[in-house]
Amino acid sequence: PEDIRVYEFAEACGKSPAEVITVLFGLGMMVTKNDFLKQDELEILGEEFGIEVTVKDALEDVNYVEDYQEEVDISHFVTRPPVVTIMGHVDHGKTSLLDKIRSSKVASGEAGGITQHISAYTIEQSGQKITFVDTPGHAAFSAMRARGADVTDIVIIVVAADDGVMPQTEEVISHAKASGCPIIVAVNKMDKETANMDMVKAQMAEREMTPVDWGGDVEFIGVSAHTGMGIDDLLENILLQAEILELKADPKAKVKAAVVEASLEKGRGPVATVIVQNGILRLGDNIVCDTTYGRVKAITNDLGKPVKELGLSETGTVLGLNEVPAAGAIMVGQDSDKEARDIATKRAEHARAKELSKSTKVSLEEMSGLI
Ligand code: GTP
Ligand code: MG
Repeated sequence: PEDIRVYEFAEACGKSPAEVITVLFGLGMMVTKNDFLKQDELEILGEEFGIEVTVKDALEDVNYVEDYQEEVDISHFVTRPPVVTIMGHVDHGKTSLLDKIRSSKVASGEAGGITQHISAYTIEQSGQKITFVDTPGHAAFSAMRARGADVTDIVIIVVAADDGVMPQTEEVISHAKASGCPIIVAVNKMDKETANMDMVKAQMAEREMTPVDWGGDVEFIGVSAHTGMGIDDLLENILLQAEILELKADPKAKVKAAVVEASLEKGRGPVATVIVQNGILRLGDNIVCDTTYGRVKAITNDLGKPVKELGLSETGTVLGLNEVPAAGAIMVGQDSDKEARDIATKRAEHARAKELSKSTKVSLEEMSGLI
C-alpha cells in the first residue's frame, strides 16, 4: 500500500485516472493522479470496478537490503566483535565514559591525536575488539532499529551514582528492553562522595532491572569516567556477554554496513560513519546506500587515519557517495557501478514522488480548510 499512485492504478486496470479520481471524490476522498493510494482506497476501488486488487511492492526490484540475505553463507561464518551502544540520561556521563575507555585503550602515540568528537569507535580489550556507539539520543536509536539498522548487540545504560534514575533513564530502559539486547548497567561517577550504588540498584530493581547480586539477571558495574575505575571490569563484562551471544558474520559476503551518522563536509563531500555488519568494506567498492550510491574513494578509521578496508563490526568513515545518506541507511556492495546507480536512482525517484504526493495532499487539505 501507499506505493501505488492513482494513475498507475488506473493504467493497471484499464481505466482513466479521471474515473478513479471520480469514484474516490464521490466518497469524499480528494486525490490527484500523482497521489499514492491507501489500503482502504484500494479496497473501495476494487469493489467499485469489480476487480481483485493485490499490491506489489513498488521497490520490489530494488529492495537491495532484503535481497542481501542470499549473499550470506553460514558456512563462512566467523565470530565478530560486539557492537555496544551507550544510552542514559543527559549528563550522566555517556560521552565522558566513551572518551575514557578510548583514551585508555588506544596506544599512547595515538591518544593525543583524538580531537574531534566521534560517534563510534573500535577498541581492543584482551586482544578482542569491541565497537562502541554513542547515541545522540534514544529516539535515534529506535529510529535506526525501525529502519532495520539494528547494529547494536549490547546496550549499556549509564546511570550517575549521585543522581540515580531520571526520566530519560526510564525511557532508555524501555527502549533497551524493546531491542531485546542484553543490558549492562554502568553506574558512573562513583568517584563522587555522594555516589550511592545501592540507591541506583534499588531504583533499577523497581523497574524490573534487578541486579545479579540481588537475585536478578542484570550486571551493575560501578565506574568512573574521571578516574577510570571499573572500566576494565565493564569491558570484561561486555566480552562475556558477547561470548554468550555467539555473534557471527560472513566476511566473504558482499559488504553490508549500517550508517550511524552522515554529513556533508567541506572539501570532502558526503561522509558517512558506518559499522560493517557483513563482508569487508574496501576501497573501490561500488556501493548503494538507500537513495545514494558511489564508489568508495577513501576510508578513514576511527582515529582519522586512512585505511584500505574495514572488517566485521569495525567502524570508520566512507567517502565517495554522491549524496548524504540518512542515519540508519544500509550500505551494500554491488557488482558494478551501474547496478549501484540504478538501484539508488530508482529509490531516489520513488522517495521524491512520495514526498511530492505528500505535499499536494497537504495543500489540498489546507485549501479545503479555507473554503
Ligand atoms: P549528554 O551527551 O549531554 O547526554 O551527556 P553525557 O551523558 O554524554 O555526559 P557527559 O559525558 O557530557 O558528562 C556530563 C558531565 O558529568 C560533565 O561535566 C562530566 O565532566 C561529568 N562526569 C562524567 N563522568 C563523570 C565521572 O565519572 N565522575 C564525575 N565526578 N563527573 C563526571
Ligand atoms: Mg554525550
